[in-house]
Amino acid sequence: MNILTSPSLFAADLTKIEAEVRRTEAAGADLIHYDVMDGVYVPNISIGFEMLKAVRALTQLPLDVHMMTVRPQDYIERLSECGADIVTVHNDIADEDTVRSILDDIHSFGMMAGLALRPDVSADAVLPFLDCADIILVMTVNPGFSGQKFMDMSQKIRTLRDYIGLDTVSIEVDGGINPSTARICAAAGANIFVAGSSAYGAPSMKDALDAIKGAAIAACPD
Ligand code: DX5
Ligand code: ZN
Repeated sequence: MNILTSPSLFAADLTKIEAEVRRTEAAGADLIHYDVMDGVYVPNISIGFEMLKAVRALTQLPLDVHMMTVRPQDYIERLSECGADIVTVHNDIADEDTVRSILDDIHSFGMMAGLALRPDVSADAVLPFLDCADIILVMTVNPGFSGQKFMDMSQKIRTLRDYIGLDTVSIEVDGGINPSTARICAAAGANIFVAGSSAYGAPSMKDALDAIKGAAIAACPD
């Protein structure tokens, strides 16, 4: 499995976004995770299109956009114009047909499509989407805030890996990830590791990401 880190920019010092993007690059991040919250799907409002464009102008790193919004379908083209590479939407924002058409729409703009599951959503929720999602994002906190306590979703991750095999679809974990929780998730089959506070809050972000990646590589099943 290809083990990747995706620091969550929402946890960065937003008063100095350029320096934070440079620090993220220098730390060896594989992706930049970008959390969009609308104050309706989650009880918080985060960063949006203009900041995404600014980040796109600063870096070539793939931008991994996590939409915690009730109607992401209204904004797929805009996200593409702003430079998103991956767009992930939650499974419970609409009925199956609508979610499928959103994932198709994301692909039609040349982006990768992710499907996110809150902690209380079971692995079976992905079954209708196995042919149209590139990434399954398993939330290991309730979405809305950085710095929350990790919730162990190992069993869900193992079930997802049974459904999708090792090679085709990535499993991303998001919330409370640090080296020890990354190890737990990697052993179950996760391969993309979002890190907010443990990355941007560390004295050395490079050491923090290296430790997450090292723990994940040591624990992953293949
Ligand atoms: C939470 C967001 C996360 C968050 C991660 O709703 O989706 O990406 O920023 O932050 P940490 O790693 O601090 O839990
Ligand atoms: Zn996120």
